[in-house]
Order: sequence, then structure tokens, then C-alpha cells
Amino acid sequence: MKVLIVGGGGREHAIAWKVAQSPKVEKLYCAPGNAGIARTAECVDIGVMDFDALTTFAKEKEIDLTIIGPDDPLAAGAVDAFEAAGLKVFGPRKRAAILESSKAFSKDLMKKYNIPTAAYETFDSPRKALAYVETADMPIVLKADGLALGKGVLICNTREEAKEGVRTLMMDKQFGSAGDRIVVEEFMTGREVSVLSFVDGKTVKVMTSAQDHKRAGDGDTGLNTGGMGTFSPSPFYTREVDEFCRKNIFQPAVDAMRAEGREFKGIIFFGLMLTPKGPRVLEFNARFGDPETQVVLPRMKNDIVDVFEACIDGTLDKVDLEFEDNAAVCVVLASKGYPERYDKGLPISGLDNFKDRDGYYVFHAGSKVNTKGQLVTNGGRVLGVTALGEDLKTARTNAYKATEWIHFDNKYMRHDIGKAIDEA
Ligand code: AMP
Ligand code: GLY
Repeated sequence: MKVLIVGGGGREHAIAWKVAQSPKVEKLYCAPGNAGIARTAECVDIGVMDFDALTTFAKEKEIDLTIIGPDDPLAAGAVDAFEAAGLKVFGPRKRAAILESSKAFSKDLMKKYNIPTAAYETFDSPRKALAYVETADMPIVLKADGLALGKGVLICNTREEAKEGVRTLMMDKQFGSAGDRIVVEEFMTGREVSVLSFVDGKTVKVMTSAQDHKRAGDGDTGLNTGGMGTFSPSPFYTREVDEFCRKNIFQPAVDAMRAEGREFKGIIFFGLMLTPKGPRVLEFNARFGDPETQVVLPRMKNDIVDVFEACIDGTLDKVDLEFEDNAAVCVVLASKGYPERYDKGLPISGLDNFKDRDGYYVFHAGSKVNTKGQLVTNGGRVLGVTALGEDLKTARTNAYKATEWIHFDNKYMRHDIGKAIDEA
């Protein structure tokens, strides 16, 4: 088979690494890819939103299966474009990707189908939103309706902050049209868990759990980022929690999308908060998580191409998803200054240390080979270092050990990825 992966971050590197292990795959392409992905796939310089060029390429190369990684092309109808061109593609159509691309849609869906989530109100007018926060209980959470790189969520402790937040999102348009409409939501407390699942329209098969670390600094301080590290499984995601979620969240969400005429095929990523009152949905994503994928896929036993095909064919009920009884930790190596200003083009060394070492992986997020043939940084998040271990503590020790094998100027990482493990 010939396979094309669309995307160019750490998530797509992990997907490419996993797809490349399938004995069915004879040729793997990635658009646009990055310097790490180029070690396992042939990278082609086509942007993720250029559907014409992507489908033309896929037809020319007779691609048998395309996997769309990021949220933006999914929300804009990449899957529809591939299907219209008669190409086999993995991911939700535009009508279904709305599960992630509109928070107002997903909140209304949960309300209609009794899926546990925080209480909320939706506003199209800043005046009404301001009047609402004037009397609401604090803290309160404001969310831009549309996609905002995971950054359109404001947690406001005081009324002043909440009013300022409404202005930032709806009037100053810090996240553009994503803030034309906002969801104002009850503040919840508890542990966060990410649960990724494969969905074929009716059946949902849940992967092992993971936890992300979204803030830039140790102790969950500083700005929100795309994710600074992950571990899997989450020790807080117990069998009991899992049973509750399967019955009250996972299957009901898939059924609800079907009932709405928005059959979902692809990945649903359930962002959950384990509150004192039970698990609640924080958000749905219509794609693999980044950097959750970097700890989940290294633990997966199945041939992922079989699972992708089962989702497309509607035969996921026949698949037994299996994960190793081990653990994984991913520590993101970023460029100092991320998520604000940071330098690019800094030479990276030490990757050879990972060669022939089982259970240690580097997934590239922002790297490239410069005109001198040197591997250099090319983004805020540069590399994700994943290590396996027989348990979470061992995996964490291994991952931090491996971070020392890599060097680049301004290398920055959190030192407390997986600290929560000690509290379990
Ligand atoms: P989201 O993109 O909706 O997952 O929100 C980003 C982050 O904001 C989440 O991972 C949580 O840490 C936090 N968050 C979102 N909604 C709430 C809420 N209702 N209560 C408390 N924290 C929240
Ligand atoms: N790690 C969170 C996300 O992928 O949205």
C-alpha cells in the first residue's frame, strides 16, 4: 500500500512511525512533514490546507490511504475533498469535525443527549456576555467558539478578569472570528485525562489513557501551550471511571453524532475532567492529540493501518485494540521563549544516541534541515522525547535521562512531567 499522512508535527511523526511498521505499507509520504518524519517517509512540500494540490498528488501517486492529522484541514473539509476525488481517507468529514471546531455545537450536543459536562451559556453579543458575567459565580471559564490553537480558553477568577476576557475574545478579537461567539462555562476542579478513541460511525474503540501538561512552566505555571509533555496511562483513570465513561460519554457521543446526521469516522479525543461529582467532558477533539499520540501509539500493539481501514469500512466492531502493559512518558524539548517569542534555526545534535535503543523515541515537532544540511530547530516545540518503562516512574526516569542526550541552544523543558504519578 501507498500511504499519505497530512501534517508536520510531533503527532504526525508518531503516526508515521507507527504506520511505517505495518507490513502492508510499501511507500509512505507525508505533506509537508518535517526533518524527523523525513527519516521514515518521503516528505512533499504541500501545505495542509491546499486540498487541490494534496488530492492531485494523491491521485498521481495512486495513494491507497490518506490520514489527516491536524484539526484545521479537518474542520475545513479535507476529508470531503479527498472523498470527492474518489480517494480513501481517514478522518471525520467537515459535518462531523464540527464536534471540535465549534464549542457551542459540542456543548449543545452534550446538553441534548445528557452527556456530562460543565453547565454553560452561549453568547453572540458582547453586551449580553458582559451582563451575564456581572452576576455569575466566579471563577468562570470563557471559551472562543472556534478553533484557536488550544489557546482560546480563559479561566477568570474575578469578575474584572471575566469582563476583560469577554472584551479580549469578542471585541478585541484576539483569536479572530473564533471569538464571534463564546461559551461561558462553570469552572470545574479535578484531574484531567485525555482518552483517544477510534470511531467508525457507530462503534467506538477506546485507546489507553494519557495526561497532558498544557502550561509552559513547572508547577502548571505560565502560559498555555500546545502541550509540554504527557504520560500514559493515567493512574487516575481507573476501571470504574472507564466503565462510567464508556456508558455515559463515549458511546453516547458517537450515537448522538449519528442521530444528528453527522456520522463520525476518525479519532474522537475526549478531554475529561475527573470532578468530585464524576467524569465530565471538557472538550472533544476530532483528531489525535499532540503530544498524547507520542505516548499512546508506542504502547499500541495493533497494526494501525488495519484499524484505520476498519474505521473507514465500518468494521471496527471486529477489531481488538490492544496495548502493552507498560507505560510511556514524553517530555517536549522547546525553544526558550515558547509560546511567545523564540529563535529558530539553532543546530540540534545528539539524535544518534537514540539509534538502536529500544523504547526510546524522538518525535520531531519543529525541525528542518537547513541549506547547509544541518538539522536545526524550526518551531517553538522542537522535539518530543518519549521513553517506555515497565511502569510510569521508570518511564519518567528513562524519558528525562534521554532528554540529556539532545543538545541545542535555548533548549527548554518542564522538569515535572508526570509529577502527578507520585500522588496516585
Ligand atoms: P479546552 O480547550 O476546552 O480543553 O480547555 C483548555 C483547558 O482549560 C483545559 O485543559 C482545562 O485545563 C481548562 N478548562 C477548560 N474548561 C474548564 C472548566 N470548565 N473548568 C476548569 N478548567 C477548564
Ligand atoms: N494535547 C492537547 C491537544 O492535542 O489538543
